[in-house]
Amino acid sequence: MNLASRLSPLSARRSGPLQGRVRLPGDKSISQRALILGAMAVGETRITGMLEGADALSTANAMRALGALVERTGEQAWRIMGVGVGGFAQPRAPLDFGNSGTGSRLTMGAVAGCPIEATFDGDASLRTRPMRRIVDPLELFGARTISQVDGGRLPLTLRGALDPIPIVYEVPVPSAQVKSAVLLAGLAAPGTTTVIENEATRDHTEKLLKHFGAHIRSEEFGKHGRRITLTGQAELEGAPVVVPADPSSAAFPLVAALIVPGSEIILDGVMTNPLRAGLLTTLQEMGAGIEMLETRNEGGEDVADLRVRGSTLKGVDVPAERAPTMIDEYPILAVAAAFAEGVTRMRGLKELRVKESDRLEGTAAMLRNNGVTIEIDGDDLIVHGKGSVPGGGLVATHMDHRIAMAALVLGTASAEPVTVDDAAFIATSFPGFADMMRKLGADLS
Ligand code: S3P
Repeated sequence: MNLASRLSPLSARRSGPLQGRVRLPGDKSISQRALILGAMAVGETRITGMLEGADALSTANAMRALGALVERTGEQAWRIMGVGVGGFAQPRAPLDFGNSGTGSRLTMGAVAGCPIEATFDGDASLRTRPMRRIVDPLELFGARTISQVDGGRLPLTLRGALDPIPIVYEVPVPSAQVKSAVLLAGLAAPGTTTVIENEATRDHTEKLLKHFGAHIRSEEFGKHGRRITLTGQAELEGAPVVVPADPSSAAFPLVAALIVPGSEIILDGVMTNPLRAGLLTTLQEMGAGIEMLETRNEGGEDVADLRVRGSTLKGVDVPAERAPTMIDEYPILAVAAAFAEGVTRMRGLKELRVKESDRLEGTAAMLRNNGVTIEIDGDDLIVHGKGSVPGGGLVATHMDHRIAMAALVLGTASAEPVTVDDAAFIATSFPGFADMMRKLGADLS
């Protein structure tokens, strides 16, 4: 989906206390995995609570182009009739994943075990992102890269393996996308495919594979890692998927409520999977008033209603080993840190440089342009919090939804308004963000 046709600037002004109760859109990671696994399964998959953001819609289109039947049956309700493992048809045109790293990379894994050729493409942001980390292990299965740009960028053409070979693969960077691509390719290979990760990353692919009937086992490995073994040439069976509310989207109203004095909001049914909950841990260490009400299980994931109150925050040291559990939350954590008293040091943020934009630089520039003192020291971001933020800056979002939302949250509590040059990309993960923030009392226009 092309969101870059024209710029749509948006500003946030200092807002009154935020109040109300809202439900966030469905989790982006789970929505995309449900679409892909539904397309790889035999029979019907019904998804409820699906994220209807541009990223998930690009993936839905790609699954159609690969031969699955994918239809919307109601609000956030989707039905898929899959083609079975190894059953994708050769697409007639390049698959356009828009802004979506997850959609493109997981689909590469799924295609690697099919005897077809497919071209993967995306928008200007996705075209800058590294793909060798995905195609390197896929080539070990027997897939071939027919063409690529600049040593592993999109557009890239992949030919799947006729007879995929199972592999043992130690993921060189902590990445759920690489892990997932290997597991999806492993579905088509005979025998056992093993993935070793030295730092555990989000485990939605493993959970959903089990839910769709695959034989998969995960055990602890080393101090922070996991070893995952999957039995290949599996038959996946379509299954119902209930998508919980996305904690990475919840992070934006959550931090807004913390920094706007006097706020009290409730966020319904937010997923609290420990491999996604690093931000909650960090904010609690900073003194945030967050209560978990009604903890329960929805569709195989732990969820809770979160009550969030305006809070006085203090700076903290965020250890590097926590990064995989909050990798998408650093821009908004940096906003919370700017309103805290004291220094917050976020360690080990190398991976932020290869997200939808260079998020380490983008986050630093967002704060710097709004009067916050920051430093980048190697892979660490250091924010000098002073309890308040001058604001008044224009923020370049670089086609990055999370930089845009973080900057707008910054503006809800800074002295002067904060403007983003382009809010369009928010629609990749959080359609309705501005309306929901306004409903809670934020001044966005
Ligand atoms: C995701 C994994 C993470 C994350 C991304 C979603 C996923 O990327 O940043 O937004 O759904 O697997 P990496 O695998 O590159 O760390």
